[in-house]
Amino acid sequence: MTKPDKKAPATESLGPASATLPDLPKRAIGIDVGGTGIKGGIVNLRKGTLIGDRFRIPTPKPATPEAVAEVIGQILEELLGREKAPSRTDLVVGVTFPAIVIDNVVLTAANIDESWLDCDTTKLLQHLPGRVATLNDADAAGLAEARYGAGAGRAGTVMMVTLGTGVGSALVHDGVLVPNSELGHLEFEGVVAETKVSASARERADQPWDEYGETLRRYLKHVERIQPVGQFIIGGGVSKRSEDFLPYVTGLRAEVVPAVLVNNAGIVGAALYAAEQARLAEVRAA
Ligand code: BGC
Repeated sequence: MTKPDKKAPATESLGPASATLPDLPKRAIGIDVGGTGIKGGIVNLRKGTLIGDRFRIPTPKPATPEAVAEVIGQILEELLGREKAPSRTDLVVGVTFPAIVIDNVVLTAANIDESWLDCDTTKLLQHLPGRVATLNDADAAGLAEARYGAGAGRAGTVMMVTLGTGVGSALVHDGVLVPNSELGHLEFEGVVAETKVSASARERADQPWDEYGETLRRYLKHVERIQPVGQFIIGGGVSKRSEDFLPYVTGLRAEVVPAVLVNNAGIVGAALYAAEQARLAEVRAA
């Protein structure tokens, strides 16, 4: 990070506040639970990159908490068997879910099996080695993008919007995540936003890219009225096609940019979140 300019106003010299949290482990593990696949990887926390390939197992059907927990355990074992795995003694593991997660308890199930409602993931995953933390999938991706990706080094408020089966959002201020913003469930033009703005909604309606860009423009304009931000980072698989629709997303106060970590943002963000939560717990206990 660049050194603060001593002559700049105090707010400008602050920079991403969370960069002041020291002593994170070099490596951690992130696991991203999605509707079709559960993906994990070893993350280099200095760089925000994966060490080695990610490992993926298809999401079990039905995707009950017990079935998913078993797959998470298998992924973890595979990753821990690798030469460059973090040591089991200071292991931290972050796991994402496509749901609201508060204090490691899953509180919604819009796009996952209903049996997840009120699931306490601390109990569910207690058989796993290491210190485990769980969070929303878009929050993990947004944290990673804000700290290592499209928003890296940027002060102020950044929002990631993930466009996939649903629409996820992540709000990050000066590098610190404000979790569970869930702006895909905002009411927008008379419907729940994600039913109109998600990548699957575009596919269902066979909507041309320019029209999709226009829909996204109106949605972000709506979001901006409620939560003004300096930058929107657009993620999800569809961000690979950002050249086809982002040119239509104009006239916003915020800068609008595609995600740069694409497929790995969830894994990287989960690992970072778990490492920081573990460190915070130590600082608070001291
Ligand atoms: C869920 C969010 C999730 C998003 C992306 C939405 O339907 O409510 O929690 O982040 O999908 O998976």
